[in-house]
Amino acid sequence: MASKLFPAVVRSSRQIIPQVSKPQWRSFSAVAPKLSDTLHVHRNKPDNNPSIPFKFSKENEKIIDEILKRYPPQYKKAAVMPLLDLGQRQHGFTSISVMNEVARLLEMPPMRVYEVATFYTMYNREPVGKYFVQVCTTTPCQLGGCGSDKIVQAINNHLGITPGHTTDDGLFTYIEVECLGACVNAPMVQINDDYYEDLTPESIVQLLTALKESATNPAAKVPAPGPLSGRETCENSAGLTNLKEVVWNPEQMMRKDGEL
Ligand code: FES
Repeated sequence: MASKLFPAVVRSSRQIIPQVSKPQWRSFSAVAPKLSDTLHVHRNKPDNNPSIPFKFSKENEKIIDEILKRYPPQYKKAAVMPLLDLGQRQHGFTSISVMNEVARLLEMPPMRVYEVATFYTMYNREPVGKYFVQVCTTTPCQLGGCGSDKIVQAINNHLGITPGHTTDDGLFTYIEVECLGACVNAPMVQINDDYYEDLTPESIVQLLTALKESATNPAAKVPAPGPLSGRETCENSAGLTNLKEVVWNPEQMMRKDGEL
């Protein structure tokens, strides 16, 4: 009886195993899962702890004076976001010392500043590389052009790191992000403050190579931000398909007898 049942058991298990071994899903993000407290909790580290002094530079102090003029003195805490941004640009990331200095300047409880800095993802609370590469992998970028999967793969191969990590030379930090609002020129990445669009695996590698060269050679040529496909902005890549001629000319519509 057992020998008669055996082939049936093998057959049914063969039908099950292929389904198990080939998952028909893809996770929403390829970023390595982080500890759940990473985004919200500060833990002292040698390069990020409150005993490291931070002061705004003289140039930034002048900018702060200008920013504060936008708000009534009793509401100067409304300047917390631009001041955190300024601190991040000066220091390289929004360290606990940057947050504490902003709290001191704006006479706010430090916790109120921490709440803002931990809510908005544009504040990097850990050091990042000289070039902070944010790759959009939301649906339009995943489907547009060659697709963001290929861009992610090209970056992985070229930099030798996976999302969420920094290269050993400290030049590139690379993460996946959600829609950056340039879907019409998908796929795209944001590097520091600039958008690079209409990417292909070849053009993203050329861009990263040029950026790496520019870190040591100021004369190195880096592609201008915007579409890398030759488009000016987001015009039809197939060229003009309608409105090719003047369809209405006010001169021709005027009566020649001068009545109108
Ligand atoms: S989906 Fe990538 S910019 Fe909108």
